[in-house]
Amino acid sequence: MTDDYDEDNNNDERDVSGGRKRDEPRKIDAALRPRSLDDIYGQETLVENLRILIEAAKAREEAIDHILFYGPPGLGKTSLSHVMAHEMGVNIRVTAGPAIERAGELASILTNLRKGDILFIDEIHRLGRAVEEILYPAMEDFALDIIIGKGPTARNVRLKLPRFTVIGATTRLGLLTAPLRARFGAIYRMDFYSEEALAHIIGRAADMLNAAITQDGKEEIARRSRGTPRVALRLLRRVRDYADVRADGVITAQVAHEGLALRGIDVLGLDEGDRRYLSAVIEKFGGGPVGLDTIAAAISEETDTIMDVYEPYLLQLGFIDRTPRGRVATALAYDHLGYQDNRDDQLRLL
Ligand SMILES: Nc1ncnc2c1ncn2[C@@H]1O[C@H](COP(=O)(O)OP(=O)(O)OP(=O)(O)O)[C@@H](O)[C@H]1O
Ligand SMILES: [Mg+2]
Repeated sequence: MTDDYDEDNNNDERDVSGGRKRDEPRKIDAALRPRSLDDIYGQETLVENLRILIEAAKAREEAIDHILFYGPPGLGKTSLSHVMAHEMGVNIRVTAGPAIERAGELASILTNLRKGDILFIDEIHRLGRAVEEILYPAMEDFALDIIIGKGPTARNVRLKLPRFTVIGATTRLGLLTAPLRARFGAIYRMDFYSEEALAHIIGRAADMLNAAITQDGKEEIARRSRGTPRVALRLLRRVRDYADVRADGVITAQVAHEGLALRGIDVLGLDEGDRRYLSAVIEKFGGGPVGLDTIAAAISEETDTIMDVYEPYLLQLGFIDRTPRGRVATALAYDHLGYQDNRDDQLRLL
């Protein structure tokens, strides 16, 4: 089994720069990654659906249907794709939308697949038009249409491909073209994890890192993990450092609280970036509605980062609303950040 699992380029630190950060956490990450469906806590409905897909495909000795995972970063789309390959006992070939520049590159990837293999395409919404057009017949008819020769003698040739499975991942379902979306047999939304599931994931990771942690320590970190396993693992590492250096090595709720507060992470898991976003909407734009581009310019942040990283969790907390006229900070956000919300009074005056 080709396993590029440990090589994939998931950034560990919350990635606002677009760049890759440090190496050490990536190694730890690789070790912590779930290997089988049994290692996946939370996402019960999704996991059950996947089990059914896998069992049915195995019983029929067929490749599994094409699957699309979508949802905010760090919830396990990449991990689940590898788990699927592991459970099916097939090879996984990993690529990403922006990495395939020409149709020919995809054609060569496709012709190298074997029966049952999984082709994992991360950021699938970023595939180029010409590349996508190669993918349509490949996914639908397991065929590759190529043109041989030039000018009047050019001929269309159809090559047969083995039955394989595309697993696509995206943070932006809305950016996928309709024809591409239509070619997936199953489309699954990844949801934020419950605190209980996160506490479990943290406990398992702590065991593997040989870190001593109490139950309330796990819960304290889980509460601040934005419903996201990747964040949970990152916070665990930071708190472990703090526990080793400033406490007696045991991660208790108190130690977790201190360690995270020191890093500017508040009780809900909001960090400096979230607070800058909310403060800008509240202070500069009277709470909104204000357009995404305007907010992005005000806080010097990429709109993509705001949409993928900041907003899903703020929406989940009920701190912002997306309206046709722009983003609005809710009363909950005012309250959490300690601002006085006088907007109703202003309305009454009008
Ligand atoms: N259900 C889970 N149980 C345990 N660990 C998990 C789970 N889901 C994800 N993780 C861990 O969280 C990290 C992020 O997961 P992963 O890279 O699969 O997310 P992703 O959805 O592909 O993110 P992105 O959209 O940024 O590519 C990994 O290090 C993985 O080990
Ligand atoms: Mg990923």
